[in-house]
Amino acid sequence: MFNIENFDIKLETGIIGRNFIYSETIDSTNSFLLGNEQKLANGTVILTEYQENGRGRFKRPWESNKGENLTFSILLRKKYLMLNPNHINLAASLAVSSAIENLFQLKTDLKWPNDVLIKNKKVSGILLESSTKGSKLEKIVVGIGINVNQTKYDGEFKIQPTSIKFELRREANRERLLSEILNGFEELLHSLEESPKKVLDEWRENCRMIGERITIDTGTEKKSGVFYDIDANGFMILKSGEEIEKITSGDVFVK
Ligand code: BTN
Repeated sequence: MFNIENFDIKLETGIIGRNFIYSETIDSTNSFLLGNEQKLANGTVILTEYQENGRGRFKRPWESNKGENLTFSILLRKKYLMLNPNHINLAASLAVSSAIENLFQLKTDLKWPNDVLIKNKKVSGILLESSTKGSKLEKIVVGIGINVNQTKYDGEFKIQPTSIKFELRREANRERLLSEILNGFEELLHSLEESPKKVLDEWRENCRMIGERITIDTGTEKKSGVFYDIDANGFMILKSGEEIEKITSGDVFVK
């Protein structure tokens, strides 16, 4: 069971995770925050041991064994609504990858737009969703799933999963990992408020796929080319011959 005290003792944030909700079982932590009509505090984090209906990008299911991993969502409101959601997405993946590297000395790699890999296998996925009231953005929800201590995965995957325990060959401390991620995420959000460039550069430095020949599946078609860069909005710039194209979403595969 997740030990809230051990998590809280290492939390150094001012906003993110200061209101913390723990739930044994829930439909989906993203749905909880999106659907909740009460005005939960900016930075509220909900962590669950088990999601009955966890979802990933492109409506794929996100499955995670009970009590073994980190499955949580962060509510962003107020000043954070001024930020570009794509930047928040990149910042979240950076926070996860830096925390894994710092705590466990495992080399991670970022996969556009927001997966975290270890040895080309997926250790974390992020799903950013938002809701509006009228035409006004009301909240952004950053949902993060991390394979921490699960070592067996059944089913078919677009990218093979791995976990921190599988790579380390020992149990990883979930409480310490969560506090490290939230500490780093709040700092990155602060950097974004000042200037996104630093965060975008840090993301570029940690994405080995930039410069590689890739294929991207946008859901409607597959395109191949060189992953040239990300633009100021965090979109992928794909170069095929002399043609340059902006890609806003999709699954990337190295050729
Ligand atoms: C992906 O890789 O496709 C994104 C996976 C995101 C999963 C997390 S787990 C917590 C939050 N609640 C959800 O239902 N999904 C996200």
